[in-house]
Amino acid sequence: MQDVTCRLRRIGGLLLMALLLCGVSALAWAQDSLLERGRYLVTTVMACGNCHTPKDAEGRPVPGKELAGGGVAVDIPPFAVTSSNITPDVETGIGAWTDAEVKRAITHGERPNRGPQAGKPLAAMMAANFFKALLPRDLDAVVVYLRSVPAVRNSLPGPVYRAPVRREALAEADRGFTERDMQDPVRRGAYLATIAHCLECHTPMDKGVLQFDTALGAGGRPFLPAFIKGLPEGWKGSVSRNITSHPEQGLRGWSDAQIKRAITQGIGPDGRKLREPMAYAWYAGIRDEDLDAVVAYLRSLPALPR
Ligand code: HEC
Ligand code: HEC
Repeated sequence: MQDVTCRLRRIGGLLLMALLLCGVSALAWAQDSLLERGRYLVTTVMACGNCHTPKDAEGRPVPGKELAGGGVAVDIPPFAVTSSNITPDVETGIGAWTDAEVKRAITHGERPNRGPQAGKPLAAMMAANFFKALLPRDLDAVVVYLRSVPAVRNSLPGPVYRAPVRREALAEADRGFTERDMQDPVRRGAYLATIAHCLECHTPMDKGVLQFDTALGAGGRPFLPAFIKGLPEGWKGSVSRNITSHPEQGLRGWSDAQIKRAITQGIGPDGRKLREPMAYAWYAGIRDEDLDAVVAYLRSLPALPR
């Protein structure tokens, strides 16, 4: 009897220690079910719908068409692609794909080995190099959520590849994240900013390669209406900004509140309305503690002039 009590006490003690080690934020994190976590990631931080949900002329998501594809189409020399239907519709969506196949597409930009485009890699626009950073639990959560949205039948034009997609030539985002990193605001912010693919748009490109080594976050990537379809009528294009900690060109002089407002409401410090394609309406749902982490990370980016 005494032995059992003793053992129970020991187990209790270990549990308590584990809880203390994990910390409070990890507990809050683990409280979400996979479905809730997946909904949070897909509909806010990762902004899948910014590309995968069709929008009306004002740029608002069309009701009842979440993730049904065609939200954006790009036609540039190497390829012409339309964002796919990623609802569970069996014929026009990804309903027939296994979980492993969906995960492969999200984190490696690879298609299953069947269908008209069998085995061809997805165009670089699908930010798989960033999504590769996903922690296993978060990747599970994303798939669980994708399976839960209503299936929408929506056939879209297939992709045209004018040059082979060479995913191996693309810049690799940081992906060495662990659950433990989630305790550290800067590392958690780095993780969130990676899966929100901030630095994809905010890093300049040279010959199709993002300049991660020399210009991380320095901005200057142009987005031109001649090549992008699906953005609000009258959209005149935009150029991404410097979001490093540079005192003049970057965000050093901005308050945290100003940075958060730019991300979630698309309003600059001077009150100017910021333009697409940044996913303001999706980022609007990012939790405040996660926004704080993103800001902490942005402030840690080495200052680069531009
Ligand atoms: C910047 C735009 C963009 C974002 C953001 C984006 N995607 Fe994509 N995605 C695309 C495009 C474009 C394609 C099709 C590429 C092609 O045909 O080569 C695609 C293809 C896919 C495919 C393959 C489907 C098929 O039938 O070929 C899956 C699965 C997918 N995306 C899931 C996601 C998920 C999940 C997210 C959010 C975590 C996401 N995407 C975010 C643009 C995007
Ligand atoms: C799809 C491309 C894209 C993505 C993804 C993106 N941005 Fe942007 N961002 C832009 C563009 C383009 C602008 C400039 C808009 C304008 O000038 O009207 C901008 C503007 C900003 C600004 C305002 C800077 C200034 O000087 O006015 C901030 C801050 C910012 N982005 C931070 C972020 C963060 C943080 C993320 C990730 C959570 C992110 N962006 C994701 C394209 C993007």
